[in-house]
Amino acid sequence: TGGIALAAQPQTGAPSAAIPAKEATILFGSQTGNCSGLAKKLSKKLSEQGVNVTLSSMSDFKPANLKKVRNLLIVVSTHGEGEPPDNAISFHEFLLGKRAPKLEGVSFSVLALGDTSYEFFCQTGKDFDQRLEELGGTRIVPRVDCDVDFDEAAAGWIDDVVRKLSEGSAQASAAASLAGTALTETESEYSRTNPFHAEILENINLNGRGSDRETRHLEISLEGSGLQYEPGDSLGIYPENHPQLVDDLIEAMGWNPEESITVNKQGDLLALRKALLQHYEITVLTKPLIKQFAELTSNPGLQELVEPGHEQELKQYIEERDLLDLVQDYQLKGIPAASFASVLRKLPARLYSISSSPKATPDEVHITVRAVQYEAHGRDRYGVCSTQLAERLQPGDTLPVYIQHNPNFKLPADPGAPVIMIGPGTGVAPFRAFLSEREETGAEGKTWLFYGDQHFATDFLYQIEWQRWLKDGVLTRMDVAFSRDTDQKVYVQHRMLEKSRELYEWLQEGAYVYVCGDEKKMAHDVHATLAAILEKEGGLSQEEAADYLHRMQQEKRYQRDVY
Ligand code: 2AM
Repeated sequence: TGGIALAAQPQTGAPSAAIPAKEATILFGSQTGNCSGLAKKLSKKLSEQGVNVTLSSMSDFKPANLKKVRNLLIVVSTHGEGEPPDNAISFHEFLLGKRAPKLEGVSFSVLALGDTSYEFFCQTGKDFDQRLEELGGTRIVPRVDCDVDFDEAAAGWIDDVVRKLSEGSAQASAAASLAGTALTETESEYSRTNPFHAEILENINLNGRGSDRETRHLEISLEGSGLQYEPGDSLGIYPENHPQLVDDLIEAMGWNPEESITVNKQGDLLALRKALLQHYEITVLTKPLIKQFAELTSNPGLQELVEPGHEQELKQYIEERDLLDLVQDYQLKGIPAASFASVLRKLPARLYSISSSPKATPDEVHITVRAVQYEAHGRDRYGVCSTQLAERLQPGDTLPVYIQHNPNFKLPADPGAPVIMIGPGTGVAPFRAFLSEREETGAEGKTWLFYGDQHFATDFLYQIEWQRWLKDGVLTRMDVAFSRDTDQKVYVQHRMLEKSRELYEWLQEGAYVYVCGDEKKMAHDVHATLAAILEKEGGLSQEEAADYLHRMQQEKRYQRDVY
């Protein structure tokens, strides 16, 4: 597949352009779909201004085509320890490597998405930005680095880029009316910035009595929203903070919960308690946040923590503690609520892989959410959204949601292609959506699911459904790994290795491999196991196995939804 060209069509009767339409190439690298969504928005706006746009995922873009690019716009996120998203890996490697061409005469700009609670904030965007300059490119507008609440900053960058590139574009007004309608037809009025208040239809615990875990299956109504999704997409949810945590914070700070504070640039006012419940992030700590607090207080301990030489200590504090700890450990009492709130991040939406197919349950969306709860440093800690869903929401309640499309996690276009799915724990969610969809469409390709969790008796999520699909042939094979039923831990990758011969055969037959779930441990180990299987069964060297997986990734035959 090449890039999707979204060029504005020449219009009959339009004034003949004295200046040829400008061209721009937008490349995105996206794991969860945020960057592809922003890239599409930019593409639409540029097209409306008469710019000929080529929009493409970095993995679909042929580096040889860089020669033809005049205006290069990059929208990319960063993961884990400063790594590019899967569909940006090759292009990142190419551009930063020795084979990258000189880019004199090329104008560029980079929009970087990231999270200030990670050490290598927006690293991939920074890499591209620096390298494009080194190669001789000129910036159209400076790089913008966005935190998790990226909407405003990203919109600002998009507007600046569009303004710069549409300067002198003679076709601007002629093309505007055309492109504007063509691209919006199927879009719902609800989005990340305007979420739909959806009713909860069902909210049950999937784990059996005695399990260490609590996994909620939620069924949510999308009726009347116009929101549409496909298996592989995610549901964005705007959660509320735990009322106990909010009250503890207000008490520790000695604030008046009814005091009005301004929550945004538009000057909207909210009562403090409500603002802390709904508007601000009051759990995660970040480096910039702590630095700003250090400026608001004269506490010598906090001043010291942000001084050079204390990086390791600061990093550890950020990883293990939350805002209430900070307030108590460094006696922040005395900071007025308004100044305190002004440095907080906006409470970001959480993304959950959808576990239903709209073909099987129209107007509904299902998600599979594990309640995060643990004790640390003498206090119970709760995952913001998962705990709200598990403890405080019942059928009949509503919650603000939107659909996050994820083009990087999609069933094969060919219904006959074999499909291998690896999803321990709640990582199995999208595979319930996949199989449900295939049951409806009657896709004939064979399917293989690897699933695992702690105990067979209490943690076998959706057991009855897998068994039914096995019986009906929607699911061809299933291998399970219950890690805590035996003396030795068994994980999904152990089952994969046991079946390495067949797995290799499936790969040779063109199977698509999907991995969903924990990124750091599981997805990493599964990746290594896939490579080991290629070496063992295919006689490949380490390097050849890595190349094989790389190629699969390029061809979209190896897709991951990991977090
Ligand atoms: P554990 O909790 O017993 O270690 C879903 O969370 C399942 O994934 C659990 O059975 C969990 O096992 C398992 N798991 C933990 N680490 C893993 C890893 N590195 N690879 C695969 N599975 C893992």
